[in-house]
Amino acid sequence: MAAKRVLDVGCGTGAILRRARAEGHGGRLCGLDPDPAMLGQAAVSDAAEWVLAPAADAAWRGEFDLAIMSGNAFQCLLDDRTTADSLAAVRRALADGGRFVFDTRNPAAAAWRSWTSERPFAFTDPLGEPMEVSQRASEPDEQGVVTVDAYFTASYWDEPLKASCGLRFVDAAHLDRLLHAAGFAVEDRFGAFDGRAFDPAASGSIITVAAAV
Ligand SMILES: C[S@@+](CC[C@H](N)C(=O)[O-])C[C@H]1O[C@@H](n2cnc3c(N)ncnc32)[C@H](O)[C@@H]1O
Repeated sequence: MAAKRVLDVGCGTGAILRRARAEGHGGRLCGLDPDPAMLGQAAVSDAAEWVLAPAADAAWRGEFDLAIMSGNAFQCLLDDRTTADSLAAVRRALADGGRFVFDTRNPAAAAWRSWTSERPFAFTDPLGEPMEVSQRASEPDEQGVVTVDAYFTASYWDEPLKASCGLRFVDAAHLDRLLHAAGFAVEDRFGAFDGRAFDPAASGSIITVAAAV
């Protein structure tokens, strides 16, 4: 809320920026996402500017004080080339001294092992209908990419709807190499959203505050 100009990279449905505006943010809010279906949900609101593009194509120059990437969107960057290009574009979009804050799951916690059909989970969809999700995940490949298949069951579909994606798991040491190469210095790091310190061997998340240097 304190940053005047904010870029949400991989903003999805724009929930964070819409909430920031609703809670009184009076500055520039901009959401970027390459998925038309996700961004289409965001764009029903005029709380922010909404831009359809992947991070690597961001063309702003020194226009933002804060860039965020939430909900582990960073894990959608599936190789070093894409990650380096995306980080470089985010760095260019930030003013000197601006910050990039993002989360990514720690490979040491092997979250993908809990994404099994034995552990389906249920929630209420936006229409108020019950929905169940059952997942299957591969082991990481040599790039750290886990393939996740999710099967969504709802009363209004004859059979489960399948959605698949890749999620890359990068450890903190490798992440830091990529950040430094793109012109960032790691300022702070947490292992969870309660603010606990990052433990490379045990933390579920790598939450990084990086300064544009
Ligand atoms: C798990 S969602 C998180 C959405 C949102 N940040 C949130 O926390 O609700 C991941 C998002 O990353 C987006 N994404 C995928 N590849 C991307 C890329 N190369 N650059 C930016 N965003 C990307 C997806 O379209 C998706 O909306």
